[in-house]
Amino acid sequence: MQEKLEKNKQEALDALDKIEDQDALDRWQSQYLGRNSVVMEAFKSLGTLSKEERPLVGKAANQVKVALESASREKETQLEEQRITESLASERIDVTLPGRRTVSGNIHPTNRTLREIYRIFGDMGFRIYRSREVETDLVNFQMLNFPPHHPARDMQDTFFIKSEGDRADNPLMLRTHTSPGQIHAMQEHTSKYPDDPPPIRIILPGMCYRYEQITSRSEVQFNQVEGLAVGKSITFQDLKGTLSNFARRMFGQSAKTRFRASHFPFTEPSAEMDVGCFLCGGKGCSVCKGAGWLEILGCGMVHPTVLINGGFDPEVYSGFAFGMGPERITMMRHHIEDIRYFWANDLRFLEQF
Ligand code: DAH
Repeated sequence: MQEKLEKNKQEALDALDKIEDQDALDRWQSQYLGRNSVVMEAFKSLGTLSKEERPLVGKAANQVKVALESASREKETQLEEQRITESLASERIDVTLPGRRTVSGNIHPTNRTLREIYRIFGDMGFRIYRSREVETDLVNFQMLNFPPHHPARDMQDTFFIKSEGDRADNPLMLRTHTSPGQIHAMQEHTSKYPDDPPPIRIILPGMCYRYEQITSRSEVQFNQVEGLAVGKSITFQDLKGTLSNFARRMFGQSAKTRFRASHFPFTEPSAEMDVGCFLCGGKGCSVCKGAGWLEILGCGMVHPTVLINGGFDPEVYSGFAFGMGPERITMMRHHIEDIRYFWANDLRFLEQF
């Protein structure tokens, strides 16, 4: 019996050596330490043995059992270590891989230009006044000195808005320019200070709408920034100084300006301001179409009728106004050839700014 146990122990240890996974180890344990194993059979047979043999076989069986159990525990630890090493290798994180870029949004090119315009006029003491986008014919046109049927209305083809009741002589519309904001601002101001209104210095930015053919040069919606200064003894010199200073800060200290006579119903006299082409320095290029000058804005002295409509006495007060298109300015600065990019929401365009 002792011999059989010894042989079985050798066989078990040899088999254990070859084991490489937990399943095989489980099978090995039931074969060599389980109920029907040689060792367990030896314990069971003890009762049938003689007094002399019993302690010898019992001791031998016990030694084999202890030896196999400890060898099995060792194997178990070894398999566990192997598993950990394998999983560390296969699940390893490569910390040298480049990270994923987080995508951040861009400020729309028009808004960049708008912010610059706000900053420049803000430094000169102008405040921002927001006015409505839905207007009446009265404020969008009539109070700005465009009588009904005036030909200048043709330049501002209009989106009308259906409304309740008969408003044939004063229909609702989307504003075609930011100039009606001048009327609201002046009326608000003169009703707040009816006796001796302090000066007004504001810019009025916002979206405008025109019922136009969409082309590379014109869109049905676009921004404008209107400016208005009203006070006692404001002159055309103030207009030229303010706008030339704006041009130098916007387009560079060496930017030259020139004022050409023009016509707008709500200003008298009226002018357009050109800036010496900042791309070719005035020599003539594709952006200025060989002229050496770029048209930047319309301006003029507020028409007496418009001052009256705003609640000011034109005998005492005077003012200047101007209006510019931030998309147009952005196009010139960045050499953008098609205004439709501004509303196309094409990231390839927007991400360049
Ligand atoms: N409202 C004019 C337009 O949309 C622009 C303009 C011209 C505004 C002269 C002014 C101004 O305030 O004085 O074409």
